[in-house]
Amino acid sequence: MSDITRVGVIGAGLMGSGIAEVSANAGLDVVVVEADSAALDAGRARIEKSMQRAVDKSKRSAEDRDAALARTAFSVDIGDCADRDVVIEAVAENESVKLDIFGKLDTIVRRRDAVLASNTSSIPIMRLAMATSRPENVVGLHFFNPVPVLKLVEIIPSLLTDSGTTERAEALAATLGKTVVRAPDRAGFVVNALLVPYLLSAIRMVEAGHSTPEDIDNGMVLGASHPMGPLRLADMIGLDTTKAVADSLYAEYREPQYAPPPLLLRMVDAGLYGKKSGRGFYDYRGE
Ligand code: 3HC
Repeated sequence: MSDITRVGVIGAGLMGSGIAEVSANAGLDVVVVEADSAALDAGRARIEKSMQRAVDKSKRSAEDRDAALARTAFSVDIGDCADRDVVIEAVAENESVKLDIFGKLDTIVRRRDAVLASNTSSIPIMRLAMATSRPENVVGLHFFNPVPVLKLVEIIPSLLTDSGTTERAEALAATLGKTVVRAPDRAGFVVNALLVPYLLSAIRMVEAGHSTPEDIDNGMVLGASHPMGPLRLADMIGLDTTKAVADSLYAEYREPQYAPPPLLLRMVDAGLYGKKSGRGFYDYRGE
């Protein structure tokens, strides 16, 4: 049984809004924090849309949706996380921004044994923990996109995380209906260390003219039974995020398989981030 009832989520992008949604759906009291009101409004709209989708598919009642929304507060003030039992940081993969947030949480969150978690895809938990005076409370809690659908959470203790923190993070994951894999505090943890080199290989195939995005994706969907192909998946994750994870993997291991290919770099330079920006390997502007 988890003693966590009050959850803070920092960041209301794709991942943060999904984490907030599953937390509210699980009956927890949620505060979602964003840097500005435009990002906050976009996050709120994303959560409402996803909750409505569950109602439209008869997975939840309209009353349950309303109750979950009523349990969710939105704020542009990180100070509103002061009374939280757990705070999950889910901002973009930018280490200096994350370090700043962990430093602030350290001074803001009152409960001394509150769990300070990061949904980072690839940044070592140890580095984030050292931005606080309580590294024993800091743990990785890595969700997968779309959060309401995918059942996995990777839990990543650092060298200094105490076992009570890890156990409480596991109890929270169970409350959210997720299955836990414990992962080492190494860039990419388990899943991204396998998945990202595969996505980068597919991008290199496009770059080399080996095949088209459509044929590569059809190949993996129809020939390997993946739910979606690697180029569509990279577009869904976000090409900026894919690049950021590749950068972290390459910085950690210095192996060519992790280096982001030039085509990915240029697409990110061009603002072609995939589904969220309307264009990536595919065009989503009509959707
Ligand atoms: N929110 C809530 N529910 C959603 C959803 C969302 N955003 N997207 C899809 N769903 C639900 C649908 O309602 C549907 O439910 P039903 O079967 O009960 O009706 C079910 O998921 C299937 O959705 P669709 O029929 O619309 O579409 P698909 O069958 O094509 O599935 C998909 C879409 C769930 C995205 C599936 O293609 C998939 O699982 N793809 C792989 C995703 C993946 O690999 N994610 C991991 C990315 S890596 C990551 O996140 C780590 C990070 O660090 C980079």
